[in-house]
Amino acid sequence: MILHLADARNITVRDAALLVADPPYQLSQGGKSLDPRAMQGGWMADYDNKGLPVTCEIGWPEIMDICYRALAAQSHAYVFVNDKNMHPALAAALAAGFRIHNVLVWYKRTATANRWYMKNAEFILFLGKGPAFKINNCSSMACIEMYWPDETAHPTEKPWPLLERYIRNSSEPGAMVFDPFMGAGSTGVAAAKNGRDFVGVEIERQWFDVASTRIAKAAREFSVFGGGGRRARRFAQRPDDHTA
Ligand SMILES: C[S@@+](CC[C@H](N)C(=O)[O-])C[C@H]1O[C@@H](n2cnc3c(N)ncnc32)[C@H](O)[C@@H]1O
Repeated sequence: MILHLADARNITVRDAALLVADPPYQLSQGGKSLDPRAMQGGWMADYDNKGLPVTCEIGWPEIMDICYRALAAQSHAYVFVNDKNMHPALAAALAAGFRIHNVLVWYKRTATANRWYMKNAEFILFLGKGPAFKINNCSSMACIEMYWPDETAHPTEKPWPLLERYIRNSSEPGAMVFDPFMGAGSTGVAAAKNGRDFVGVEIERQWFDVASTRIAKAAREFSVFGGGGRRARRFAQRPDDHTA
């Protein structure tokens, strides 16, 4: 496991087997959020900061270039987007060299108020680099319903069991999973719990420290319980989970 406290633009990663990323995507130009929880990144506007415009230093073309360059010649990428930036994100992904395999949906159960339908879902671009190859469990559903209570104070923490599904489907044990915007480290937690190697980058010291602690704990648990540990067996009971 290698964790960088850095700007992802300054870190060079090569030959990652898989990328799972939840980027700090831009929602609107200019302005600054007044929410004290808000950090740089339009991603806050989607998460209960009252829709205030926020700034974001990094745009989709740069994000997708970072993702594409880090990956091995034949690999998958899962990138979180929202309804408003799905188009620029996909355009940037295709320009970087990715193909689009699918748009996955996380049905969160919880909803954010909105005048044009309540927001209770998030979207994930499922992308491929190089020659196409299938996922490990082809009976996996594109839309997953999952409620998972937050484990940290990070405002956009994603459930690691959701990320775990993507990791199991698009990588093998021991493979290197990369997350250039790891936040509280949920991708790293899912990777560690499934015996994958992990490289993560986070620019904010506060979240880097949270991620480091969580990922180290998950790696310790994996070394104690192993790949067939207690939690893996519990999740294997779900119909679209391929882990034995
Ligand atoms: C949407 S959050 C990721 C949350 C993560 N998926 C989780 O479950 O905790 C995006 C993260 O990217 C970080 N970030 C923003 N700009 C960055 C950059 N240039 N390099 C690395 N990290 C950055 C932010 O501080 C934020 O924690």
